[in-house]
Amino acid sequence: MKIKRFYIITMGCQMNVYDSGQMERLLASEGYVPCGEAEEADLIIINTCAIREKPEHKVHSHLGRLVRIKKKRPDVVIAVGGCVAQHEGQHLVKRWPWLDIVFGPFAVRRLPELVAEALRRDRCVVDIDTNAEAEPGEIAPAAFQRGSPTGFVTIMQGCDNYCTYCIVPYVRGREVSRRPERIVSEVEHLVASGVKEVTLLGQNVNSYGMTNGHESTFPELLTAVNRVKGLKRLRFTTSHPKDLSEGLIACFDGLDTLAPHIHLPVQSGSTRILKRMNRGYSCEGYLKKIDSLRRVRSDIAITSDIIVGFPGEDDKAFRETLDLLQAVEFDNLFSFKYSDRKGVPASRFSHKVEENEKEDRLARLQELQRAITLRKHQALVGTCQKVLVEGRSKRGRDQLTGHTPCNKTVNFSGAASEVGGIVPVMITAAFSHSLRGEMPRRCERLPGPQGGVLHAA
Ligand code: SAH
Ligand code: SF4
Ligand code: F3S
Repeated sequence: MKIKRFYIITMGCQMNVYDSGQMERLLASEGYVPCGEAEEADLIIINTCAIREKPEHKVHSHLGRLVRIKKKRPDVVIAVGGCVAQHEGQHLVKRWPWLDIVFGPFAVRRLPELVAEALRRDRCVVDIDTNAEAEPGEIAPAAFQRGSPTGFVTIMQGCDNYCTYCIVPYVRGREVSRRPERIVSEVEHLVASGVKEVTLLGQNVNSYGMTNGHESTFPELLTAVNRVKGLKRLRFTTSHPKDLSEGLIACFDGLDTLAPHIHLPVQSGSTRILKRMNRGYSCEGYLKKIDSLRRVRSDIAITSDIIVGFPGEDDKAFRETLDLLQAVEFDNLFSFKYSDRKGVPASRFSHKVEENEKEDRLARLQELQRAITLRKHQALVGTCQKVLVEGRSKRGRDQLTGHTPCNKTVNFSGAASEVGGIVPVMITAAFSHSLRGEMPRRCERLPGPQGGVLHAA
């Protein structure tokens, strides 16, 4: 059988989204075409995430559904890629013996060969070899952008930090940075194909270039990308607080395309718990970095991640986290219940927190944050914001959606022809997840490429 149509289900972080894009491009260059439904596909790939128990369970529920397709059409090739594949390897094949391919993040570039091999053999092809392949190679970068004005570029693979709760270093391997000229050239390709905003991706972008000596630090890379003609907005994620240098903080003042937003996961407000997590900073140290950021760029939006119920987190430690939220007033927060991951140090820690206690803490934390986020959003009502129009909103036919420089979602009415542009939008209403606005007839000119928050005329 010759495979013609493929369908990819992507789970997990933006690095997985990037990897799925790579798979699409590789398959397209071999003559395969994407299709809209798994039922119609000849090749189905699930690109998986192992960060917590919940996404891992989801993989198995997807596979439970795919078994029906496999029974109806035994020729369909079903592949599991990504971090669960890397972690589980042959265990996945034991549980789902009809699987055709199991491949980890290191094998993305080998996908076409793996598919060809699967078609020749009747056993599952397993490739969880960890030979690092940091350079994604020259594969028609613009082909997978689907008309979106936002693009993503992975600048490094892996992670060397070994936070005690985290599975990433075990499934993505050691930290390897891509060469700066390859990154700049990929950004240039994206911009040439119509992309206005690029996000540089890595598990800890702040340590870019430090482990394999490209003689280019992250601030230097940002400076080089900032020079790409036609790029309007530059973002990056994720920043590890321990490696947030003064040089990087200064970029928020000096680089005109760098958007005023940083995602800086803190994980806990208790220095004792941060130590048990092996995060490498104290609560006080984190607060000092927040002060420095705000001194350099007073309107910078700061978002973060928190884990509640880490082993040993008592009431006092949890209260310290709530206090941190009050002190910093994050613009937004991603919060998770601690989830035991097989083989990582924290899974062997004592003083595990009961599930109902974790749920209770999560609810309290989220309630506090919801009020803070809403307050911050309400303060924007009546201001004029520069919004990058990313597409149609799900809310209505003539509704558009986009983001402000501070990365707030704004929905507003407008013509589809605005998509891809940066337009002034008057903010008229605030909700906890988004803002509503309208394009004013007249809006004061906003200074600089990012603009500030200015009152509409
Ligand atoms: N590299 C990023 C985080 C990547 S994982 C960083 O260092 O900040 C995204 C988030 O998932 C983490 O910030 C953390 O909050 C959460 N997370 C990771 N492992 C977890 C676990 N075992 N249980 C619960 N949440 C976890
Ligand atoms: Fe995981 Fe820590 Fe690495 Fe982030 S820095 S990916 S939390 S080990
Ligand atoms: Fe998940 Fe792997 Fe990303 S575990 S968060 S998909 S690096």
